[in-house]
Amino acid sequence: MNHFINISDLSKNELRSIIDSAKKRKSERGKKPNSQPDEDQPIQGKTMVMFFAKPSTRTRISFDLAVKQLGGSSIILNEDEIHYGKGDETIKDTAKVLSQYADILMIRTDSHKDINEFKKYLDIPIINGLTNMSHPCQIMSDILTFEESKGNIEGKTIAWLGDGNNVANSFIEAAIKFKFELKIGCPKKYGPDKKIVALAKKNNCKLFITEDPYEAAEGADCVMTDKWISMSDKGNKNKKKKALKKYQVNKKLMNVAKPDAIFMHCLPASREEEVTSEVMDGKQSVVWLQAFNRIHAQKSIIEWCVK
Ligand code: CP
Ligand code: NVA
Repeated sequence: MNHFINISDLSKNELRSIIDSAKKRKSERGKKPNSQPDEDQPIQGKTMVMFFAKPSTRTRISFDLAVKQLGGSSIILNEDEIHYGKGDETIKDTAKVLSQYADILMIRTDSHKDINEFKKYLDIPIINGLTNMSHPCQIMSDILTFEESKGNIEGKTIAWLGDGNNVANSFIEAAIKFKFELKIGCPKKYGPDKKIVALAKKNNCKLFITEDPYEAAEGADCVMTDKWISMSDKGNKNKKKKALKKYQVNKKLMNVAKPDAIFMHCLPASREEEVTSEVMDGKQSVVWLQAFNRIHAQKSIIEWCVK
């Protein structure tokens, strides 16, 4: 059994095999309806419990479909529906009980520490469905989407504009493993996690952080951004938005990337803040494919976890 908590926990080969098997399963399925299982149903009889302490559209539905396509079943729980979520039961006790009921657990929660605490007491694999620190499932879908449009990501250049948030942190970990260049354009105050930046430096990752959005986007194969205010953000929102204003992904900024560059956003988006509708709905945008590919990347993650 394997846990999927941080991109940095997996080897380069493990990550590559997850992406490659996602491509294979996706192409073998062809145009089957989303709720129809794959022929081999590799997790038939298995149950995945999903717990959401924060809202979700894509993660919730794409994981549910992923489990169905693999032949398993899922139980989706919100914060106010279980004792741990309401703060009435310890993680240890919840983990021990869930280990008897389910075969795999997926959690979206605020504190990354909670995921590690669950891992200590679980006898089943845990998947990180987003924390304040990271969003590894999103990044696997993004790499799948990038490679479907542009080929192998190794040696390519990705530009990240705006907040150095949980998604940006996971991207840095991915840049280390998949060996692409990552150029982050953000204000100093809203940069990515310092420990993850140090890990990138230690691994000779091609990570470049600048306060100039145009320098970050120049010559990129892909330009990415995310909401300026994340679900776990507690600071002064207006001050943060003001500081991030010049990092908006608009036509002018896209024009300094490669002419055939793609635009990505994990969604949900705040249109006209971090990205203009012109870019998001434009020809270079692959945001809908990114959301769809969550199903396929996550099927592969689930299979790797229950191995
Ligand atoms: N990208 C993403 O994780 O979306 P949701 O918050 O809707 O799950
Ligand atoms: N950075 C965003 C990602 C949402 C999928 C958040 O944490 O709210």
